[in-house]
Amino acid sequence: MQRSALILVLAFSTATLALDNGLMRTPPMGWLAWERFRCDTDCESDPQNCISETLFMDMADRLSEDGWRELGYVYINIDDCWSSMARDNQGRLQADPERFPRGIPHLARYVHDRGLKLGIYGDLGTHTCGGYPGTTLDKVQIDAQTFADWGIDMLKLDGCYSNATYQEQGYPMMSKALNATGRPIGYSCSWPAYQGGLPPKVNYTLLGQICNLWRNYGDIQDSWDSVLNIVDWFFNNQDVLQPVAGPGQWNDPDMLIIGDFGLSMDQSRSQMALWAIMAAPLFMSNDLRTISSGARAILQNKAVIGINQDHLGIQGRRLIKEKSGIEVYWRPLSKGASALVFFSRRSDMPYRYMTSLKMLNYTLGVYKVYDVFSEKPLPELKDSTDFVVSVNPSGVVMWYVYPAAEWRKEAGPSRFSEKLRGPKFHRYANEVDAPLVL
Ligand code: GLA
Repeated sequence: MQRSALILVLAFSTATLALDNGLMRTPPMGWLAWERFRCDTDCESDPQNCISETLFMDMADRLSEDGWRELGYVYINIDDCWSSMARDNQGRLQADPERFPRGIPHLARYVHDRGLKLGIYGDLGTHTCGGYPGTTLDKVQIDAQTFADWGIDMLKLDGCYSNATYQEQGYPMMSKALNATGRPIGYSCSWPAYQGGLPPKVNYTLLGQICNLWRNYGDIQDSWDSVLNIVDWFFNNQDVLQPVAGPGQWNDPDMLIIGDFGLSMDQSRSQMALWAIMAAPLFMSNDLRTISSGARAILQNKAVIGINQDHLGIQGRRLIKEKSGIEVYWRPLSKGASALVFFSRRSDMPYRYMTSLKMLNYTLGVYKVYDVFSEKPLPELKDSTDFVVSVNPSGVVMWYVYPAAEWRKEAGPSRFSEKLRGPKFHRYANEVDAPLVL
């Protein structure tokens, strides 16, 4: 298929009916407690890291004071183990009184006062995965209303302690119940992850109509093996998964573990680049109080965020798997631009991979190229010109590619950074981004 025709098909296939709450037109970004802080409830001996209002207030401070919010990281999400073991006398969930002494509404106000949004966790079933009270079908409505009353902005609904029939009833029911509250609440469904993530058991058309994002696969852990396992599953199944993503409806390969213990800097860049290609939600699960400057620079890289947040919302694909262990990934972006990722599975030394844009199916022409992680424009490139990229072991080279003719034709911003950000980022037009000037 011609590249332009393929892009059109990809774009149309995402234009299906999406959940009608107007939320998450680009992949949601923020912070989520689970991978790093798990179910640590021992506030007596571990007060800094236990699941408590202090942890979320600390992270809200960091998100709002350290430049994260302006880049789009606005959700601060509570995961499992936040609640009391019993519902209140009116049948409502309640926060653990010791660990959240001022209650969730107070936390929501604290978060909102800082220009952020608060997410919470529930589980469709008798218990959450951590053994806390679940949301059985008779509790769907009251829980949706409780979350709305508290000022919650997003719900992750897990699926432990239920079964396929129960989930088939419960996930759409919660979607309706959230809509009925009148409060816009982003809805993350773990349903497909509990049903193997693939059709015919999973109906992605339906998911697109009832959820804003969904976990398709198993939990990420703090290791490179875990990242690779997730990457393999998502791209091996890209023919199924790629077409179902689009504005308001995203596949979720799980949290970013950049800034934790399991990834080298190269592996961190790889996770960031591949999550951007996948149009994945960007929920960091790390300690923003102590994060290294290296990890922060990767997570705050404006070009990779701009690619992730491209407003067409077309998920990318793996194009090539070379015998050498080099793989090439591609994502079409607005205004004829695209992103390329050259990824190495090797473990010897930086590999010099030679190819051309023509070999990667680009149409005839001259292209401007910006190297995302070295933050430098490269010389203009003709489709037929061979080039070499040097890719580190378990690392990536990521490019933002833009047709030179379009660039010249288009009045307005002459900077890569502005072109690739799209409308969402114009709110932050007063930011200085000198290193991106051509
Ligand atoms: C499941 C989910 C995780 C996390 C835990 C909490 O395993 O997939 O993301 O929410 O439950 O117990």
